[in-house]
Amino acid sequence: MRCVDVGAGGGDVAVALAGIVGASGRVYAVDSDPLARDAVARAAAQHGAQVVALTQVAEELLLPEPVDLAFARFLMLHVFDPLVVLRRMRQAVTATGWIVIQEPITSAGRIDGQPFSFPGARHPDLGAILPGLALKADLDIVDCWAEAPAGAGPGPIADYLTDLTGVSPEDSSVVLPPLVTLVARRRQIRSL
Ligand SMILES: C[S@@+](CC[C@H](N)C(=O)[O-])C[C@H]1O[C@@H](n2cnc3c(N)ncnc32)[C@H](O)[C@@H]1O
Repeated sequence: MRCVDVGAGGGDVAVALAGIVGASGRVYAVDSDPLARDAVARAAAQHGAQVVALTQVAEELLLPEPVDLAFARFLMLHVFDPLVVLRRMRQAVTATGWIVIQEPITSAGRIDGQPFSFPGARHPDLGAILPGLALKADLDIVDCWAEAPAGAGPGPIADYLTDLTGVSPEDSSVVLPPLVTLVARRRQIRSL
């Protein structure tokens, strides 16, 4: 399979995908930040993974070949126009290809009952409108769901939050922002 991870960052997902598609597959890791290319190259070398890192803005996504899977995680909340990016991802896949996107609903997360905020993001609650955007981008939704780990006290939830924010939640109740996963395909033209 050929895949693209759009907004790949340090390449965690791209490297994992490379492990799945194997030596006969190909994974493109696209990010607007040129420094990401070096980070992806380092991660790929460490895992012996075959990843092609490209510096591109997602709004102008253009790959050397059609792909079977276009994936993005924690990207759409940052871009100027998520619909433009969705349409580019749709164009990037083959007629039978898949589009998989994971985006948060930031403000639905809670620490001690208080909503999360993410002032640095353009669309912090993008996950909440992802299914409707998919329809506007001429995609057929195959599946879509939201999931949010929750907990209190020491453990993986507190560790994750501390890593992310640098602030420990101590014994507060934490509900991480739900992550909406969209699994979609190019809209099929149905015969009458
Ligand atoms: C929060 S990181 C997510 C990284 C990775 N997808 C993950 O889930 O671990 C967001 C990434 O999107 C990239 N990015 C932001 N706007 C972009 C755009 N318009 N086009 C391409 N990449 C973009 C950033 O440079 C950053 O690496």
